[in-house]
Amino acid sequence: MPYKVRFVNYPRQYQQLKKEFDHVFEEVMSGGNFILRRHLEEFEKIIAEYVGTKCAIGVNTGTDALYLSARALGFGPGDEVITVAHTFVATVGAIVQCGATPVLVDITDDFNMDVDQVEAATTSKTKGIIPVHLNGHACNMDKIMDIAKKYNFRVIEDAAQALGAKFKNKRCVSFGDTGIFSFYPAKMLGTAGDGGMVCTNDDGLARKIRAFRDNGRVDSVEVIECFGWCTRLDNLHAAILNMKFNYFDKWVKRRREIARMYDEGLSGVGDIITHPRSNDDYFDVYQNYVIRSKHRDDLVRYMKASGIEVLISWPKPLHKQPALKLDHFKLPKTEQISAEVLSLPMYPELTDNEAEIVIETVKAFFA
Ligand SMILES: Cc1ncc(COP(=O)(O)O)c(C=O)c1O
Repeated sequence: MPYKVRFVNYPRQYQQLKKEFDHVFEEVMSGGNFILRRHLEEFEKIIAEYVGTKCAIGVNTGTDALYLSARALGFGPGDEVITVAHTFVATVGAIVQCGATPVLVDITDDFNMDVDQVEAATTSKTKGIIPVHLNGHACNMDKIMDIAKKYNFRVIEDAAQALGAKFKNKRCVSFGDTGIFSFYPAKMLGTAGDGGMVCTNDDGLARKIRAFRDNGRVDSVEVIECFGWCTRLDNLHAAILNMKFNYFDKWVKRRREIARMYDEGLSGVGDIITHPRSNDDYFDVYQNYVIRSKHRDDLVRYMKASGIEVLISWPKPLHKQPALKLDHFKLPKTEQISAEVLSLPMYPELTDNEAEIVIETVKAFFA
């Protein structure tokens, strides 16, 4: 049965902005501008200015943005890096791929790192922290940066899900040594494929990451500064993202409106815990709207059977994935939350009527 309400609806966005998408394609194709061209430079400037960092470097995924950050910061064998298990595998993967050791701490009810556990998790080997701003909600960066300064740790902010989100009026990625975004299609700002970015205020790190992304080349193709990788953000993707960024503020506003509809429509329904509400220190952008219920698995079956596409991120936390060999960590809150979470459809093109259908379907399950 086709879904009545999709989890995301890419064709709808394309239809709404068809002329602009087609114009971007025509412009890039007719100019033959594919690799490290004007659209990428423009996009890097736009994002750096928007988030308030000196530099932004477009790479081909959020995964690579994390890995190149970790390499540029020198994480390696013998180092420990503190992060969470309730995240996409790429966060922990960046640590492991460098040869460093991940140290996982638990989360709190806002789904983010329990900052009160970080200090206790440090050892003489700790080199860094990777806080994850999950679902478009910032971590408490005051506490994380205080610990980092106290012990001279490096910080990579995983803001793959948090373009636009703020803590104390500063945007995510502007606190740490580096911060990263993903432009995967379903993300806050998504392209027609994969894309990522590293943001930093450190010119030296920026240069290293520019060299890493283009096989060691920065200013000239003839001078190789180091061994690197081939992981540039394609100019076509940058051009799409430039065009879409014109709508970004409007889209964030719409996500926040939908979140308020869900908050009101679902509060007091069954045993549902609605998506956490933040205080004034935070500006949330709602990459995802996540509810919790003890009846989650039955609710998911009911929603899908009723034509509502929903998603669980993530049903099994990373330390419970046998292949990753991280099961020595005890993370009770992470385990509880991963058994209860469920993400509802959330994207700017979702209509009020569709949000109502989602709410009514959840209510019908509990009725
Ligand atoms: C929290 C988090 N970190 C990292 C990534 C990796 O981004 P990408 O899919 O662009 O490699 C994602 C994307 O799903 C994510 O959600």
